[in-house]
Amino acid sequence: MSRLFDLSGKVALVTGSSRGIGRAIAEECARAGAKVVISSRKLEACEEVRDILKAQGHDAIAMAAHAGSKEQLASLVQQTVSCYGRLDICIANAAVNPFFGSLTDAPDDAFEKTMATNVKAVWWLAQLAKPHLVASREGSFIVISSIAALRGTSLLGVYGISKAAETALVRNLAVEWGPLGICVNAIAPGLVKTDFARALWENEAARKKREAETPLRRLGEPLDIAGVALFLASRASRFVTGQVLVADGGVTIGGSG
Ligand SMILES: NC(=O)c1ccc[n+]([C@@H]2O[C@H](COP(=O)([O-])OP(=O)(O)OC[C@H]3O[C@@H](n4cnc5c(N)ncnc54)[C@H](OP(=O)(O)O)[C@@H]3O)[C@@H](O)[C@H]2O)c1
Repeated sequence: MSRLFDLSGKVALVTGSSRGIGRAIAEECARAGAKVVISSRKLEACEEVRDILKAQGHDAIAMAAHAGSKEQLASLVQQTVSCYGRLDICIANAAVNPFFGSLTDAPDDAFEKTMATNVKAVWWLAQLAKPHLVASREGSFIVISSIAALRGTSLLGVYGISKAAETALVRNLAVEWGPLGICVNAIAPGLVKTDFARALWENEAARKKREAETPLRRLGEPLDIAGVALFLASRASRFVTGQVLVADGGVTIGGSG
């Protein structure tokens, strides 16, 4: 392995890492040598991932935390540092999308829930992680956004606003934290085959249409996003900050016809 991607001695916390993209990111960070914190709302699911990683010879712990609760996020960060003594890589991955439909039809509670979990709670996590990322001297804060942040959609308007806000948050934190040696970046995945996006890829006609519109002619897999996260978590990207890295098979650059 190139030393640029070696995470030995580092501690990585990933919210929403019991499955999907977060799990793949946590697994790749562990394979690169990091100690990883597996977290989601369900402790049992996190413990399963932890046990698999430990059986493979990696160092991991599992903790339950609702990504929308300030108290639970504070406890997650505090327990990470109590257990491992440091936090170098913090990845805000957990997000919600309670409403599929037109922006103008969205109910207030769906809008508020989406903004609370996807935006406000990422801001909380950043506040909580900051002192530890400063102490790390090579801190990395990564937010999993979406290409819904970059373009309008017919069904994901509220979610898209929250994901766009995340990219603004990332740019701002990058400006504020750059002098402290912390890199802050976002990843904007296209459609990835996880439970979260099942409604968008399970229907065969919709999936085929999306594949045809994608220059690489396939949907994303969690590992496609984990590779980008590993880059952003590692020394390989120490001159990259405030960016939104798109990993979408080329969907946003067009080419469908
Ligand atoms: N899949 C896509 O096509 C796609 C595209 C663009 C961006 N994204 C972004 O990628 C990220 C991960 O999505 P995914 O597709 O990997 O989803 P996923 O497969 O459904 O996994 C979601 C993970 O987050 C946890 N989680 C859900 N709500 C949570 C909460 N309130 N607090 C803490 N943990 C929570 C889940 O575990 P529990 O249920 O146990 O809590 C699970 O570990 C999200 O930010 C999403 O917006 C996904």
